[in-house]
Parts: sequence; C-alpha cells; structure tokens
Amino acid sequence: MTLLVENIEDVRKSVAVARKAGKQIGLVPTMGALHKGHLSLVRRAAADGTFTVVSIFVNPTQFGPDEDIDRYPRPLEADLDVCRAEGVDLVFAPEPGEMFPGGFCTHVEVEGMGEVMCGALRPGHFRGVTTVVAKLFDIVQPDVAYFGRKDAQQGAIIRRMVADLDLPVAICMLPTVRDADGLATSSRNAHLAPEERCRALVLSRALKDAESMLRGGCTNADKIEQCVRKKVEQTEGVELQYVAVVDPDTLEPLQTVGEKVLVALAAMVGKTRLIDNVLLRDL
Ligand code: PAF
Repeated sequence: MTLLVENIEDVRKSVAVARKAGKQIGLVPTMGALHKGHLSLVRRAAADGTFTVVSIFVNPTQFGPDEDIDRYPRPLEADLDVCRAEGVDLVFAPEPGEMFPGGFCTHVEVEGMGEVMCGALRPGHFRGVTTVVAKLFDIVQPDVAYFGRKDAQQGAIIRRMVADLDLPVAICMLPTVRDADGLATSSRNAHLAPEERCRALVLSRALKDAESMLRGGCTNADKIEQCVRKKVEQTEGVELQYVAVVDPDTLEPLQTVGEKVLVALAAMVGKTRLIDNVLLRDL
C-alpha cells in the first residue's frame, strides 16, 4: 500500500516505523509529472530493498521570476497511480506552505558550482534546489537518495552539498533514460509540439557526435564544444544556450579531456527549455 502524506510530522512518523522494522530508507525527490526516468529511480530504490519515499513537490524557490511555474505540469492523481503500481511505500506531496511557511529565510547554497552553466542562465535556481533537497533530506532522513544523470549539474551540486555538510546520505546517480529516438525523458517534453520534438533530437545527436569524438581519442575540449555547437546551431527552431565541457565533479571547464568528462548543454526548443549531457569516465 502506498501512503499519501502531506505533512512533515507524518512523514517522520512513518519513516521511524520503517526504520524500526529494520528497513533502509530510499528517497526519490521529484517535482511530479513522473516519467520513465523517474521510474528507473523508483525501481532502483525498490531493488535496493528500501522503504521507498517519493517526494512530489513543485518547488517554487527554484523557479525564477521570469519562469512560468504555473505552466509546470501537476498530474498528481496520475503520479499517485504510478507510485501505487510501482509499490512505492510513501508519497510525500506537501503544499508550499508546509515546506516554506511564512517567515522562511534560510537557504543552502553551494557557491560557484550553482552559478555556471544552467546556473548562469537561471540565477538562484540551484540555491532553491539545494535548499529544498536539504530540507527533504532532513525530513525523510534517507540512507540513499536517487537522482538522474540528466540533471548532471544538479547531481554534482548535491554531491558537493552532502560532502560539505557531512550529510549521512548516499547519492545514487542513475543513467539518463531516453526515448527510442534518443530524446532524454523530461517532464518538459510534454510541452513540445510534434515538429519541436523532431527538432529537439539534434541535442542528443550532437552529444552522440561528441561521444564518438571522445571515444575516438579527441582530447581537445574546444573542438568537442565547437562540434556540438555547430550541429545544434544549424537546426532551425533550436536556440542553443550553452555547451560546456567540464569536470563532472567540480564543473570546472576542461581544456584537455582526461579520464572523466561531462559534455552538457541547454537549448530552447520553441518555448521549452531542454537540457541533456553525455558523461564519460575512464576513456
Ligand atoms: O530534479 C528535480 O526534479 C528537482 O530539482 C528536485 C531535485 C526534486 C528538487 O526540487
């Protein structure tokens, strides 16, 4: 049975019971509109034998003033059906006032890493993410928290926060789930008109080219960046925001690619902002 809980106190009670029964706690933080990418996280948490908590919360603090939070999909009933079908133990779906009551003014910020790449285009976004994730970690006290590698920058920042604050939680990052045509799954894909969806495929294709260059032995980060940039910029209706060739842990730009590299990009396809990346280690 999947418990639906809206307040912090009840989450703490249920988690305490599960822990007393000897269970490890697994947390899958989400903003809902669950898709195949989320399911891979939920299934891994279940396969790890955890008491699996899925949080569904469209976090207002990670949206900028020009970003349309009201446009973010909120299909709560459908999400609950998915969680029930997957055997999730507890869904935490708080109202904004439960997470951020009046007078709330404490934030968690990972300096530097939250200001580059997506952070340069979305000031304050990662501060909102780390603040809500720190709160979720405190409320749920998970042994393991599961995130998708599609949000590679978010993952790197959360790993840094966990290390810096000595939070007793393991971060499990799982591979990006893609549709058969290569498009990375995202709640935002629902906004793409059919022709936009077709155009968006250039993103994963450009990253595939980058991957081939890397696997072929290219170590020149600039060449890799230019190759991705050229391919995306040639596509009508797709506006590239950035391409970054960086260290996946520190997000420091690379000039020469060593054993690990993250090639990440963001682009506007119509009014929809998409991100994708390729992560390579031990080339
Ligand atoms: O990746 C997301 O869906 C969100 O950024 C997260 C981690 C749930 C925080 O709101």
